[in-house]
Amino acid sequence: MAAEKQSIHGVWGSRWIFILAATGSAVGLGNIWKFPYIAGENGGGAFVLVYLLCIAIVGIPIMMGEVLIGRRGRNSPINAMRALALEAQASPFWKYVGWMGAIAGLLILSYYSVIAGWAIIYIFRLGSGQFESADAATVQNAFDGLLADPIMLTALHTLFMVMTMVVVARGVNRGLEAAIRILMPALFVLLAILLGYSVTSGAFEQGAKFLFDFDFSKLSSESILIALGHAFFTLSLGMGAIMVYGAYMPKKASIGSTVLIVAGMDTLVALVAGLAIFPIVFANNMEPGAGPGLLFVTLPIAFGQMPGGMIFGSLFFLLVTFAAWSSSISLIEPLVAWVVEKGLMNRNKAALLLGVITWSLGLGTVVSFNVGSDVSFLMGKNFFDSLDYLTANIMLPLGGLLVAIFAGWTMKRTTVEKELNMASYGVYALWTITVRLISPAAVIVVMIWTLFQEQIKAMLGW
Ligand code: PFF
Repeated sequence: MAAEKQSIHGVWGSRWIFILAATGSAVGLGNIWKFPYIAGENGGGAFVLVYLLCIAIVGIPIMMGEVLIGRRGRNSPINAMRALALEAQASPFWKYVGWMGAIAGLLILSYYSVIAGWAIIYIFRLGSGQFESADAATVQNAFDGLLADPIMLTALHTLFMVMTMVVVARGVNRGLEAAIRILMPALFVLLAILLGYSVTSGAFEQGAKFLFDFDFSKLSSESILIALGHAFFTLSLGMGAIMVYGAYMPKKASIGSTVLIVAGMDTLVALVAGLAIFPIVFANNMEPGAGPGLLFVTLPIAFGQMPGGMIFGSLFFLLVTFAAWSSSISLIEPLVAWVVEKGLMNRNKAALLLGVITWSLGLGTVVSFNVGSDVSFLMGKNFFDSLDYLTANIMLPLGGLLVAIFAGWTMKRTTVEKELNMASYGVYALWTITVRLISPAAVIVVMIWTLFQEQIKAMLGW
């Protein structure tokens, strides 16, 4: 019986290990690098509110759906979706949802690794005291210099890809578990120290106001799509990462409470990162909408002025690197797991092959910050921006939508109930309504409105 099935890739030692691994996947560059900069670019407060709403009504229910599918299927997302579709006498074509996710993961990893490379070099830049007492312009120039250097970016991208694929090749249980057990709490502590600094830096109120003052006039419909896409990105949803981790989850663990913990920690880290960064932005008269460089410019300024900043700064970027590392392995795990299940090759070879493909694609992102910055792909965006837009704002929400429909409508009710094993029927009913109706409706409305608003307006004669 499928319920007794075990994953051939192993099972997490306990529920806590699953929580740690899923949190490791969720908490990453999305929280510390991407959330602050997109909140800045999209005007702050109202964007943050929409993002929080998306986490609550779309992210959490779909995350439960993903864990449920993974644990029931005990296979890579592609095979799990296929098996569960057959179990429910539905079309095996559902496996293509798994496929889309696996490809999205590879695409995301290709640029994620390039950005993680920036964090690696900042460990050394801060550690060497390069930014001690430096002013904003000096720090900005140092960052611009890094982006202008494709060789350096490629070297760092290569290093990060090797780190990622080595862990993936070893299997997720060995190595990573031990590391994140120590590193995640350490990241929290350092974020708290930074927060302490920015509270006293003079512009805390302004920073907090920027993040939590809900001024809806600043919100465009594109911002809403970005907030939705980011909710998927930050929770690692819509592409099978959480699903594949769910496949390694022990049978007895409660899915609902586990998911709440993971989503809660993820949101907390993002908000604390925002609260640490924006006061520094305002205290130094910088632009909140500065874009992808925000983290790499604001924080070095702060560390440069702080007693012990060299050590703290270097340690902070080390932890950012680790947070990125524990996320990156989950980006490629769905595809690697599928290749291994298919018997096409062993884990080592699969990791090598997929690593090389992802690495090559990453070179497109490397050059999009320098020699290729003017080459446009999607809607006039360069390679990196196009890839980011396509994956985070289109593929992940679409994948998540299909997961919600699958978990809400296609899977057998008895299977779902048994697997979720909720203590309260009320909560189960709430989840069912959300995953069946509310989450899909939210995703559909936001996607259709943002992507086709010109056509809709023309049709309605607005
Ligand atoms: N959640 C990760 C972050 O916020 O950095 C990124 C990510 C990991 C996205 C895994 C998607 C994924 F499947």
